[in-house]
Amino acid sequence: MSQLLRTKDIDQLIAAAEAPEKRLRKTLGPWSLTALGVGAVIGSGIFILTGTAAAGEVLQRHSILHAPLLDLLLHGRNAVSTIGRPGAGPAISLSFLLTALACSFAALCYAEMASMIPIAGSAYTYAYATLGEIFAWIIGWDLILEYAVSNMAVAVGFSAYMNDLLESLFGVHLPAKLCNPMIVGGEFTGNWFNVPALAVLLILTWILVRGVRESAKTNNLMVLIKVAAILIFVIGAARAVRTENWHPFMPNGFPGVLTGAAIVFFTYIGFDSVSTHAEEARNPRRDVPIGIIASLLICTVLYCAVSAILTGMVPSSELETRAPVAAAFRQVGLSWARYIISAGALAGITSVLLVLMLSQPRVLLAMARDRLLPPGFFGAVHPRFRTPWKSTMLTGFVVCLMAGLLPLRFLMELVNIGTLLAFVIVCAAVLIMRVKHPEAERPFKAPFYPVVPILGILSCLLLMFSLTVANWWRLFVWLGIGFVIYFGYGRRHSVMAKVRAAAGR
Ligand code: ALA
Repeated sequence: MSQLLRTKDIDQLIAAAEAPEKRLRKTLGPWSLTALGVGAVIGSGIFILTGTAAAGEVLQRHSILHAPLLDLLLHGRNAVSTIGRPGAGPAISLSFLLTALACSFAALCYAEMASMIPIAGSAYTYAYATLGEIFAWIIGWDLILEYAVSNMAVAVGFSAYMNDLLESLFGVHLPAKLCNPMIVGGEFTGNWFNVPALAVLLILTWILVRGVRESAKTNNLMVLIKVAAILIFVIGAARAVRTENWHPFMPNGFPGVLTGAAIVFFTYIGFDSVSTHAEEARNPRRDVPIGIIASLLICTVLYCAVSAILTGMVPSSELETRAPVAAAFRQVGLSWARYIISAGALAGITSVLLVLMLSQPRVLLAMARDRLLPPGFFGAVHPRFRTPWKSTMLTGFVVCLMAGLLPLRFLMELVNIGTLLAFVIVCAAVLIMRVKHPEAERPFKAPFYPVVPILGILSCLLLMFSLTVANWWRLFVWLGIGFVIYFGYGRRHSVMAKVRAAAGR
């Protein structure tokens, strides 16, 4: 038991990352880090989920599994009889603000931890330093949901926008068999594979193996395109806003706003990935907090603007739920915007794929350094490119495979609950660290301690409880698989286990 809860010393963690043969290349400044944050955040979510969150959704089936856990706890089985989920209506901008608030508590906590322990493992490393090995493993395993599995979800959306752009520009339509997942609802669809997703993932994996500088440059370009597309949308569409569409502002009251907030959480995922690049930052103690907070701020402003304009253009109840932004333009007769939206969505999806696939191998690298994963594979750094190339290729391969097979919705919901759990643990880590190591150097301190970490924990828990029972089950199954791997491999091989054994001799 004491091994499971044994924590790792911060100096030890930093020293392990400094070994010359394991060092990553330090090339990132504050701009690149902020661009990586924006790159990871704005992707498929804003172009897909805004409609569902504003208009609400009708559920096909209901059972206890489809009821939000909080409703079930408050209303018992009566919760199951509610058909569908209420939408936020025009108050969707408020949902975006609420989610941004919950994320900002977590962002401030991430910034504090990243400035204290500027190495690649992000939340995994913070948990090792505060809560102990077993929590570190849980969070490392959980981060796979946030980075690799969310990438699968994002990649699924790539084909739809690719098709839209090819059709609108050249009148070319890719065959459905080559653009859709092979399996939906546990059944074979007759489609072969999601080929455009496969192609983009292969190209990105190659760029990622080549180096972090190349990856950051590609990301900067994609961020420029998508931010420009969003600004053109906001400015171009402002003329089409009819203020009467904003009334009534909250058709389903505050519960509608809360449901909307839980749905749009996916759109914010990614800002914390900046912390996984701490080891490649030139001045991580200053620039990583800047990157995390600035990217969250930029994305919040853009999201609120897009959602306000969108609900002003079209009555919320008429918003499309599959591609709401593109559809709203068609509805008001501004069809030129279709190119811009498709180009913005494609650039957004590409940058999210790039940055999250950049983050995943770095978490695996930190876990391999601690021997919770086989170091020969997950800890290998390419001698010339200085990137964790083997795990980058493995991540690319698994994401390709799953994105080709599985449907979007299933993946998105699994990602939300996993990421919220990571946020809760990072906020808890700040609280524990302040008590256990008040003397540690903190170049960035989360303000209003202990209010910010406590509110971070509470708000993320509230969002977790707004997710359905099915999601909780999926999380437990995922963590269960993780425990099998930990007790089968990590516990016996971990560096901490060896230190302990040596001390016992
Ligand atoms: N936040 C990212 C997106 O919306 C995952 O695509």
